[in-house]
Amino acid sequence: MFTAKAIAGDDKASLYQELTAQLAGLLSDERDAIANAANTAALLYGSLPDLNWAGFYFLRQPAELVLGPFQGKPACVRIAVGRGVCGTAVARRQSMLVEDVHAFADHIACDAASRSELVVPLIRNDRVFGVIDLDSPLLARFDREDQQGLEAVADLYVKASADL
Ligand code: SME
Repeated sequence: MFTAKAIAGDDKASLYQELTAQLAGLLSDERDAIANAANTAALLYGSLPDLNWAGFYFLRQPAELVLGPFQGKPACVRIAVGRGVCGTAVARRQSMLVEDVHAFADHIACDAASRSELVVPLIRNDRVFGVIDLDSPLLARFDREDQQGLEAVADLYVKASADL
């Protein structure tokens, strides 16, 4: 049985160090992409403060993301590539750090409580196949340290998991 240890978040660097160490253990014996996404979402949601959503979207057709495993309220199921924060991360092939979702013209509001968002693309062999998305009810909840931390989480997830 995996027991999530309490993560002391005195500073973000040690928080993400501890989080990635726990994630490496959690994913070490499993290659299934859906199971690993489910456990990654649960660990993120349970470990990072001030989130109202943590989860995955996967590219199921060339131009459409479909909802994957997540924690939080039910969310939008399909997002076109190039739309919203998630679809923009796929189109640009880069992480999206949005301090104020109300100032991001194309933000897709799955939960009216969300005020800031961080999205990191999942890339294998140069191909984007999904995203990890974090939402917070706090304005400017995420910074560059969170972005680097979530990029490390995405990297671990991609390396640990088989193709969908
Ligand atoms: N806000 C996202 C949609 C996904 S939900 O936040 C879970 C977006 O603009 O792409």
